[in-house]
Amino acid sequence: MYKLIKPSHTTALFAAILATFLTACQAQDAATPAKTTVATEIVVDDGPDIEFRGTISGDLLDFKDKLGDDTPAVKQFKKTGKNPYNGNEAVIKNGYTIYSTACSGCHGHLAEGKLGPALADSYWTYPGNKKDKGLFETIYAGGQGMMGPQKGLISQDEILQLMSWVRSLQNKDAKPAAH
Ligand code: HEC
Repeated sequence: MYKLIKPSHTTALFAAILATFLTACQAQDAATPAKTTVATEIVVDDGPDIEFRGTISGDLLDFKDKLGDDTPAVKQFKKTGKNPYNGNEAVIKNGYTIYSTACSGCHGHLAEGKLGPALADSYWTYPGNKKDKGLFETIYAGGQGMMGPQKGLISQDEILQLMSWVRSLQNKDAKPAAH
């Protein structure tokens, strides 16, 4: 037969450890500014989201699809309009996989253009696409004709991922700064 450890001792010890731990946590909370850091090391700023509008409609985007809108990257993007995934090699690689499935049929395997225009060069039908905010608005809410809204088809986070791939192509072609 097993002897049971007297519960009162263990409980008291456990409570003491818990109390120490909680105090330590609170102390840290007070010292940390109100920002959320996550595993991807994307820091989400405080403050309100900026406005996003459909490239064609000009209507305010309500993001009601909610698909993949809870990642730190999406949250931060909505506050700044800048894609936090730009330059992140692992995300860029994944972004290409998403692009290959959702976009390459119309825009070409390397975004060289096919039925839809090239996305790898520096010319944009919609000049707003030079900026991440505009590019997201075009992809999320669509362009003319065959370029339907991608909202609900791929997640908001996936759009940011494939955008980082598109930007990586453009950066590759960028000429070194003149001295
Ligand atoms: C069914 C074909 C089709 C698919 C699928 C498609 N596109 Fe398009 N896309 C087009 C066409 C056609 C245009 C030109 C429409 C216009 O100018 O308004 C276009 C335009 C665009 C533009 C504007 C380019 C500019 O020069 O300003 C962007 C950005 C874009 N597409 C990105 C994407 C991305 C990213 C995906 C995948 C998530 C995607 N498209 C999927 C056909 C497609």
